[in-house]
Amino acid sequence: MTIKSIILVMVSLQTYTANGQIICERQMSVEWRTQPKHHIMKWTLMNNICSNFYTDCWNININIERNILEQQALNVPQICPLQLQLGDSLFISSEASFQSHGMNLGNVSMEEFIRCPPKDFLQDQLIFGCRLRGMHQVDPRWLEVGTHYFAEVQTKGPLLCNLGLRLNVTVKQQFCQQSSNAPFCSRHGRCLSHVWEEAYNCHCSQQYSGRFCQEFDACASKPCQNNASCIDTREGTIGNSYECACPSQFAGKNCSEIIGQCQPHACLNGNCSNVTPNTFLCECDKDFTGKKFILFSML
Ligand SMILES: *[C@@H]1O[C@H](CO)[C@@H](O)[C@H](O)[C@H]1NC(C)=O
Ligand SMILES: *[C@@H]1O[C@H](CO)[C@@H](O)[C@H](O)[C@H]1NC(C)=O
Ligand SMILES: *[C@@H]1O[C@H](CO)[C@@H](O)[C@H](O)[C@H]1NC(C)=O
Ligand SMILES: *[C@@H]1O[C@H](CO)[C@@H](O)[C@H](O)[C@H]1NC(C)=O
Ligand SMILES: *[C@@H]1O[C@H](CO)[C@@H](O)[C@H](O)[C@H]1NC(C)=O
Repeated sequence: MTIKSIILVMVSLQTYTANGQIICERQMSVEWRTQPKHHIMKWTLMNNICSNFYTDCWNININIERNILEQQALNVPQICPLQLQLGDSLFISSEASFQSHGMNLGNVSMEEFIRCPPKDFLQDQLIFGCRLRGMHQVDPRWLEVGTHYFAEVQTKGPLLCNLGLRLNVTVKQQFCQQSSNAPFCSRHGRCLSHVWEEAYNCHCSQQYSGRFCQEFDACASKPCQNNASCIDTREGTIGNSYECACPSQFAGKNCSEIIGQCQPHACLNGNCSNVTPNTFLCECDKDFTGKKFILFSML
């Protein structure tokens, strides 16, 4: 097969994929794995090439403000974008039909990714200085935290890049551990990253808050009554440490006491008991427990 015929085959494949539905499968939210993973990326035009930035490559319908470069990026055929955890390894496996010619892969800027690299491509941008045949591991130095753009660079012309041989690789780190051996999210949450986020962060379970879910949120059980606002007062996972800011006619730790003293019919459907010289409580009758205090007109 000559290079020309290979390219012709590729052009027809590309048309097919552009008109077909190559939609990259994508989870919107991913949980941090405790073990690094090996990813194998097939460097091929046969499949896994998406064309429309949002709908095909990310499989989302999204209305966000786009800058000019992003608008240009919208219709860049590319290998489905990849997101890795820091520490994962990436192997690139070239398609059999490319192997006799070899493939060159370069680390390029976003602009070069969108427009495909120019001919005066710098040698120190080459990820595989030799021509890529079979499967090769990408050196970790190309996979630091951040977004990286890899593109096919051909000395004979950038055509294959234009057809889609370019890859957006985002490498994310996690901020879910208070120290290197600490449990993830203090065991009170999940370490997650949304597809557009640059890192993994804790998403705390109920009652916990803080960057590492290290804080017990005493307010989560809604202890303050009568529309009082709750303030979590102590840091840490222990204790029911909260304060209720009571509206003017209420008092007590939970704002459950009414300011004043018992008067006849003070509690409409319950018994009245004085708590302090200044406050009383209504103990509601059985059928009126839904609303704890049946208010009466003050004074
Ligand atoms: C890859 O290319 C980008 C954009 O030109 C550059 O900022 C980055 O330093 C390069 N990576 C390495 C490891 O050289
Ligand atoms: C590359 O992927 C990241 C998400 O990981 C995205 O934010 C960025 O816009 C993509 N860049 C291009 C040019 O497609
Ligand atoms: C305040 O509410 C908490 C939680 O509902 C409860 O355990 C506590 O006994 C209440 N304290 C007072 C003084 O009512
Ligand atoms: C509770 O507080 C909110 C905001 O402070 C206020 O809009 C609302 O009317 C209050 N509800 C009652 C029943 O007092
Ligand atoms: C109210 O007081 C009466 C008489 O003392 C008693 O029988 C009743 O159980 C009390 N109700 C409540 C809700 O405490």
